[in-house]
Amino acid sequence: MKIQHTVLIIGTGSIGERHLRCLQSTGRCRIAFCEPLDERRKDVATRYGIGEELTFVSLDEALASDTPFEAAVVASPAPFHIPMGMQLAGRGIHILMEKPLSLSLEGVEEFQNLIREKELVAAVGYTHRAHPAISDLKKQLDSGAFGKALELRVDVGQHLTTLRPAYADVYFADPKMGGGAIQDMITHFYSVGDWLLGPIDRIVTHARHLALPRVEVEDTVHSLADHNGVMAVYAQNLTQKQNEVFVTVICENGSIRADYGRKRISTISEPNGAWQHKSYELDDIDEVYVTQDSAFLDAVEGHGSTFCTLEEAVRTLRVNLASLQSAETMSWQTIP
Ligand SMILES: NC(=O)c1ccc[n+]([C@@H]2O[C@H](COP(=O)([O-])OP(=O)(O)OC[C@H]3O[C@@H](n4cnc5c(N)ncnc54)[C@H](O)[C@@H]3O)[C@@H](O)[C@H]2O)c1
Repeated sequence: MKIQHTVLIIGTGSIGERHLRCLQSTGRCRIAFCEPLDERRKDVATRYGIGEELTFVSLDEALASDTPFEAAVVASPAPFHIPMGMQLAGRGIHILMEKPLSLSLEGVEEFQNLIREKELVAAVGYTHRAHPAISDLKKQLDSGAFGKALELRVDVGQHLTTLRPAYADVYFADPKMGGGAIQDMITHFYSVGDWLLGPIDRIVTHARHLALPRVEVEDTVHSLADHNGVMAVYAQNLTQKQNEVFVTVICENGSIRADYGRKRISTISEPNGAWQHKSYELDDIDEVYVTQDSAFLDAVEGHGSTFCTLEEAVRTLRVNLASLQSAETMSWQTIP
């Protein structure tokens, strides 16, 4: 396939490297990247065969080079997202921004205005929307076959110490860098809920650090929320041994469930009937990122749409902030 885009990846830590690999695998991009850590920069350049002229220490250095970038992936920690987004948008560069969009609303409106003014694509990496189980669930819900949605139940857990052994040495350990289960993990599912049912109006959260070694941030989160009349319960921990995701929408005429662990979508429409299971293929989690990143490239080319728009990510940022506030004050929060 012809290479069409020069894409700059900013930060090649765990997710930046994944984006790099996934975008490279599409055959649609020439990849450049910036990474301040010398050893990591050299290692990534070597492993992915990226020439010195496309490898930079900083975003400033990349933007000062002769290379014209059409698009960028912001994969640095969250406090850098909006400032980097402003720099890129100012240059007319389309942006795929990692989640969460930011840690406060500071500068967010200015960023939205600049994106609009420059007519740029800005997508946010709420990747679970591109997961085959969630996409299928949404399709079935939107078909209307199950009637009106009444309730959403999200039950998610993973053993973070196994899945991400370095968690305590990266941004995750510090809320000011985007750490903790609210800003880093359950936010993915607030975004899924928004995609399935529309915006959250009200939320109450109970969150604590229970057991994750070497950090003090919350590892367990329970939120109750209201999506304009649809009741939702979101539960997540980062301590259980099993890696599980269950997302269930209970509708007037039946229920639909995404189950990542068993790689299946299940439906039920008869009282006390049997669940009907449908399997899906997902051999490598990279496939989800290829789906997400390909949709971004399509949007840059002027066709198709991204999985999560900037406006939707701003809504989820407001939910994160309300959830944090709720956990601190033990009170319901209304989201404007
Ligand atoms: N969508 C997803 O599935 C997903 C998964 C993991 C992380 N994330 C998000 O991606 C972001 C990065 O997470 P990560 O796990 O890759 O973190 P990480 O710590 O593994 O990597 C961050 C990288 O950014 C680099 N960096 C730091 N400051 C920089 C700067 N000023 N300019 C350029 N590079 C800089 C660091 O050196 C590091 O290599 C976070 O916002 C996180 O929430 C998203």
